[in-house]
Amino acid sequence: WFGNVEQAPKDPILGVTEAYLADDNPEKINLGVGAYRDDLSKPVVLNVVRAAEEKVMGKLFMEYLPIGGLKSFTEKSVKLAYGDSAQCIQDARVAAVQSLSGTGSCRLFAEFMHRYMPGAAVYIPKPTWANHHNIFRDAQVEQKGFRYYKPDTRGLDFEGLMDDLQAADEGSVVLLHACAHNPTGVDPTPEQWQQLSKLMLKKHLYPFFDMAYQGFASGDCDRDGQAIRIFLDDGHNLGCSQSYAKNMGLYGQRIGCLSLVCADKAEASAVESQIKAIARAMYSNPPVHGALLVDNILGTPEIKQQWYDEVKGMAERIIDMRTLLQQNLEKSGSSLPWKHVTEQIGMFCFSGISPEQVDLLAKEHSIYMTRNGRISMAGVTSRNVDRLAAALHKVTS
Ligand code: LMR
Repeated sequence: WFGNVEQAPKDPILGVTEAYLADDNPEKINLGVGAYRDDLSKPVVLNVVRAAEEKVMGKLFMEYLPIGGLKSFTEKSVKLAYGDSAQCIQDARVAAVQSLSGTGSCRLFAEFMHRYMPGAAVYIPKPTWANHHNIFRDAQVEQKGFRYYKPDTRGLDFEGLMDDLQAADEGSVVLLHACAHNPTGVDPTPEQWQQLSKLMLKKHLYPFFDMAYQGFASGDCDRDGQAIRIFLDDGHNLGCSQSYAKNMGLYGQRIGCLSLVCADKAEASAVESQIKAIARAMYSNPPVHGALLVDNILGTPEIKQQWYDEVKGMAERIIDMRTLLQQNLEKSGSSLPWKHVTEQIGMFCFSGISPEQVDLLAKEHSIYMTRNGRISMAGVTSRNVDRLAAALHKVTS
């Protein structure tokens, strides 16, 4: 039956973990997948999550959630993204469903787009998170690119971005990373977001924000929502994918939220019903445990504040590692510019090293990262940073 099935290529991000696990060097370092580690390289469960687990444990049945998930969770989630007092929330014109984290939200949206925006293309930043391409491909949505990153400066190509979107076909979707762009760690400034928002209004382009790292860019969840709020203030009806994998450390719980701001309450109701119809055929209804945890954390002001503090703590450890890595690279005698290590933000550093240099790091130093040179800073610790800097210097000199 299946003799014609060829082996699929390894995933460019999760495949790195496989290679890392197969290496028996005790000093090996995994800088591939974006998953937070503490300074002892251990996975972290947030204190607020442990406390929420105790509260929900054993008290609930294991019943199905509705197709759209836990309503009290989606209501809180939308507020976290758009701001407590967002007009669209007050007007009850946000369609929202619980999703299987960021990938699940994007996939639902892509399917919705295929059905209800027929023929529209999605413009995707160059580069982007590799899975975006898989997601829109599988939903049979045409993908076009827009310039985003400038290798010379290792910063934003704002001019290129504006030119490409100026030339984009009206009625298209533009996929934007709300904060902490993956893989580059390069975000527009508030002024640049404002200019982009105005251009997209004029060109009738639909903004779809992937927000997988709220809190990780600045350590402040409200500040990290600023791009979305700028677009809302300008009157965009936008879409948003949220994930609680990174900012609550709930990677394996697959908990997220897809929301689409609509023209009015009736439109929101129709849109939500169609997203649920898509979800029902794909996976029926989402898992309950993660939704209960997030609902619990976002639902109590003092616990929410404790969560903000814990996210900030993770963001700050990463910022400290950026400083240490840059210092160690400079001390190593490297004559290359490494300022971008501290200028970029979020979980990743887009190092600028070549795929061949990445291969050398794995082969000769047991240091693993994606072949586009992306370093997951969450895997850097005060113990491994010298070794990483020395190895980076060696493969780049
Ligand atoms: C990443 O970019 O490393 C994460 O978003 C994990 C994933 O699913 O790719």
